[in-house]
Amino acid sequence: MIPDKVPQEDVYHAPQDLVKGAHVPNFEKYKELYLKSIQSPEEFWGDIAKDFFWKTKHTGKFLDYNFDVTKGNIYIQCMEGATTNICYNALDWNIHQRNLGDKVAFYWEGNEPGDELKVTYRELLHQVCKFANVLKSVGVRKGDRVSIYMPMVVELVVAMLACARIGAVHSIVFAGFSAESLFERIMDSQCSLLITADGFYRGDKLISLKLIADDALQRCRDKGVPVEKCIMLKHLSKEQPDSPAASPSPPAKRPCPDLQETPKDKVRKIRPKAQVPWNPEVDLCWHTLVDGASEECEPEWCASEDPLFILYTSGSTGKPKGVLHTVSGYMLYAATTFKLVFDYQPDDVYWCTADIGWITGHSYITYGPLTNGATSVLFEGLPTYPDMSRMWEIVDKYQVTKFYTAPTAIRLLMKYGSAPVQKFRRDSLKVLGTVGEPINPEAWQWYYSVVGEKKCPVVDTFWQTETGGHVLTPLPAATPMKPGSATFPFFGVVPAILNESGEELEGPSEGYLVFKQPWPGIMRTVYGNHQRFEATYFQKFPGYYVTGDGCRRDQDGYFWITGRIDDMLNVSGHLLSTAEVESALVEHPAVSEAAVVGRPHPVKGESLYCFVTLIDGVAYSTTLETELKQQVREKIGAIATPDYMQNAPGLPKTRSGKIMRRVLRKIARNERDLGDVSTLADSSVIDQLFNNRCPTAV
Ligand code: PRX
Repeated sequence: MIPDKVPQEDVYHAPQDLVKGAHVPNFEKYKELYLKSIQSPEEFWGDIAKDFFWKTKHTGKFLDYNFDVTKGNIYIQCMEGATTNICYNALDWNIHQRNLGDKVAFYWEGNEPGDELKVTYRELLHQVCKFANVLKSVGVRKGDRVSIYMPMVVELVVAMLACARIGAVHSIVFAGFSAESLFERIMDSQCSLLITADGFYRGDKLISLKLIADDALQRCRDKGVPVEKCIMLKHLSKEQPDSPAASPSPPAKRPCPDLQETPKDKVRKIRPKAQVPWNPEVDLCWHTLVDGASEECEPEWCASEDPLFILYTSGSTGKPKGVLHTVSGYMLYAATTFKLVFDYQPDDVYWCTADIGWITGHSYITYGPLTNGATSVLFEGLPTYPDMSRMWEIVDKYQVTKFYTAPTAIRLLMKYGSAPVQKFRRDSLKVLGTVGEPINPEAWQWYYSVVGEKKCPVVDTFWQTETGGHVLTPLPAATPMKPGSATFPFFGVVPAILNESGEELEGPSEGYLVFKQPWPGIMRTVYGNHQRFEATYFQKFPGYYVTGDGCRRDQDGYFWITGRIDDMLNVSGHLLSTAEVESALVEHPAVSEAAVVGRPHPVKGESLYCFVTLIDGVAYSTTLETELKQQVREKIGAIATPDYMQNAPGLPKTRSGKIMRRVLRKIARNERDLGDVSTLADSSVIDQLFNNRCPTAV
């Protein structure tokens, strides 16, 4: 499975100073540990678990599971009998056991340069305990679901850790999602509380978060399922007049009592306020509640398999799936992958540019770094604001050593050349990472040579919301790298490549990427729908977890992800289901049918190309096109905005009525060689579709 030898030529090696003192210093050591993780998981993970605090130790097997639907229900159970608390491990344990109370947990860097603050582990613990007491005071109990819809601020971490501390289950919704998406997620997870903020700036654009949150809450009320309370953090300052962007809001019934004051402990500048509607029956002010709360809060001791969080990810049927992760396995896995994949050392300053609203932020901004006692940068802004050098300016400012970002950001910055990068020294950098989508070798080379000056290994980490942490990844000092390959499995992970008949392929091959056994961080179920969990991941090939990704293994045994092989698109590292976009389009009264396919995009990886069939008598126009794009933004969020759209009076269908997406993908790419189209019911639609192609999709 892991090759005996890896090539020494035409690969990239870590510099010697990184190898010295690395946790896994060479490929031999990686192989040895890998074998141990597979053959003696109890011992392998048992050693790791010794670094954590357990209120009670586990009594059963380390991992108990069934991965085979033909043999009964799918289940994964880790460390039966153990009780712990992940928040306690992330904060109290570091403070008391490792003496890290005064160590900086986060350097927060706001959207505007100069807007900054830092928080130590002790300060974070106090804030978390206060907010945990607030949660209890508003009636949140162990097992309750709490929805969090916040910008990238320290209080977002505080809110999630406070939930974890009292055993409540957080469900974070990315702050770029629409009211409809938020509503759908609140309803699915039956949240009793929503935590949000007044608003925030993305570059120079104001996002009035509370207005969107209110819209979502109204939709819940309309469905007869009201959310009892909404806690609002005041993030925007009061100094400037109301922003016009917020003016459509209804007049505030009563202002948040503290809105007149900027929180004393924070220096927050340059952020004009948003107008904040206020409903005294539901809305509560974060600052007022926290002011009176105690700084002490005994953690709730949770069983290993108690739920920790729900995070929604796109599903191929269009309805997002609530991926559920549980306490102990996720904790061990997030912590261990963070430590080994970034070769974390105590003096590191680590920066992951993802948003906490995605799994990358959960595992590698909050839980992984904090359980290791790391110092991280938490960045609210954009890589291109106020200019193209922002990332590198921040790297120098905080002397960042380990840096983790997405290929789409690399490709975007690459367009502007090396000058904005070279304005800053970046000589603190030691390891670079990527995540979210395949990285093309050109972008890898640019990242490696221009950003890392050829002295930083690039860890191309393949994983998913479902996997909880990295599953295929290089280890920076140990794995010779090939640009564009996620290389080899992490400890405890057993990948295989299957053909269409479900046979395991050996040697160089290409097919479905699956995993043969669980690792501690794998998801446990789809919240409220275990059957969907089994059907999505385990039905197609009994005995395997099916990732939905295609994969190639080369002659040296390296794994190369080739992209999704289901109806999912990866736009700027975000998974979108074509069905979800299609259903947003057909909700428009002018549309009778829609089909959405991906088209390669130089920066985003993939872009959305939409074919829409209108109802009889409606004319296609640019106004309608704008309306349809807006409709998708409103239903899902800006990340799903269609890039290209075309009128499709007819769609290519088989005689049984199935849309031939393969043909549509070719049309979107303007590729005339359609392959075998003999199953088409009406071949005349093809010419029409080519003639109507979106003119901007050259
Ligand atoms: O298609 C793969 C792609 O992102 C998908 C998972 O998306 P999500 O659950 O949103 O999580 C993203 C962050 C972990 C995968 O099924 N993907 C992720 N990382 C890589 C990747 N594709 C290729 N190479 C990667 N390193």
